[in-house]
Amino acid sequence: MARGEALLELRSLTITASVADRQLLLLRDVELEVRAGEVVGVVGESGSGKTTLARSVVGLLERNVQVATGRIELVGEVLVGPGTDLTHTARGRSVGMVFQDASRSLNPLMRVRRHLSEVLERHVDGIGRDEVRARSTEVLRRMRIDDPDRVLDSYPHQLSGGLRQRVAIALAVVTNPALVIADECTTALDVTTQAEVVALFRELVDELHIGLLFVTHDLMLASDLCDRIAVMSQGEVVEVGPTDQVLRHPTVDYTRRLLAAVPHWTEGASATHA
Ligand SMILES: Nc1ncnc2c1ncn2[C@@H]1O[C@H](COP(=O)(O)OP(=O)(O)OP(=O)(O)O)[C@@H](O)[C@H]1O
Ligand SMILES: [Mg+2]
Repeated sequence: MARGEALLELRSLTITASVADRQLLLLRDVELEVRAGEVVGVVGESGSGKTTLARSVVGLLERNVQVATGRIELVGEVLVGPGTDLTHTARGRSVGMVFQDASRSLNPLMRVRRHLSEVLERHVDGIGRDEVRARSTEVLRRMRIDDPDRVLDSYPHQLSGGLRQRVAIALAVVTNPALVIADECTTALDVTTQAEVVALFRELVDELHIGLLFVTHDLMLASDLCDRIAVMSQGEVVEVGPTDQVLRHPTVDYTRRLLAAVPHWTEGASATHA
């Protein structure tokens, strides 16, 4: 995928949920794109619709949730339009997903080796044992795991939280997806491990030119990692632009209020973003 090529396009995406006999508006007219080699942050307070946006792309919305209008395109292919069954949207090969809690992606009864081989066998037709082994080791090395063999032979509970989240990221990228979506995937980690995961994502994006949609409520993290930021409020994208512009010269009050709520936020903090 060439850097800068449009990967994901959300066009006037409106998503509703049926609750009792009422329709709740979860997303309203969302416009957003992610290009190859780009990290787009989605920030906003709890309940603003970040997870709904992220999950709409991978078809992981609950059954009472539907696309009312608009569409989702991935590498030029229309995944979702009005009336499309959301459970049939892209998974696996073209989009990888990383959740807040690595245990959502990992089965406690399976060693890491088997997690990786199951994903590879599902997505790569006729892949042989040797290649599964080689690609499993390679992807863990790419995750900056020094002793891939030990990790491959471990069960999830035998690994630290940081390692488990690296394994979850490895599962999301081992099939070489064009786009990765991470929903609060660093929230449960300590600050040092968060920084490591952010550095790792930046490397993956810069080297493999994947697009990354990075959902977080943490503006500091978003400022460190993202090229562009979309600010969500009550189901709408109220502001979107280059990270420095949005965080240093916000145009809407809502963004200013979000920034004011961050302890120790200074213009200097956001200015360190390259
Ligand atoms: N299946 C559903 N049925 C009804 N309402 C829903 C459903 N899923 C989400 N919502 C509502 O939609 C709104 C947006 O939820 P969403 O989980 O997308 O927010 P979020 O920005 O990810 O919040 P958080 O930061 O807490 O993770 C919330 O008000 C939530 O209660
Ligand atoms: Mg959420």
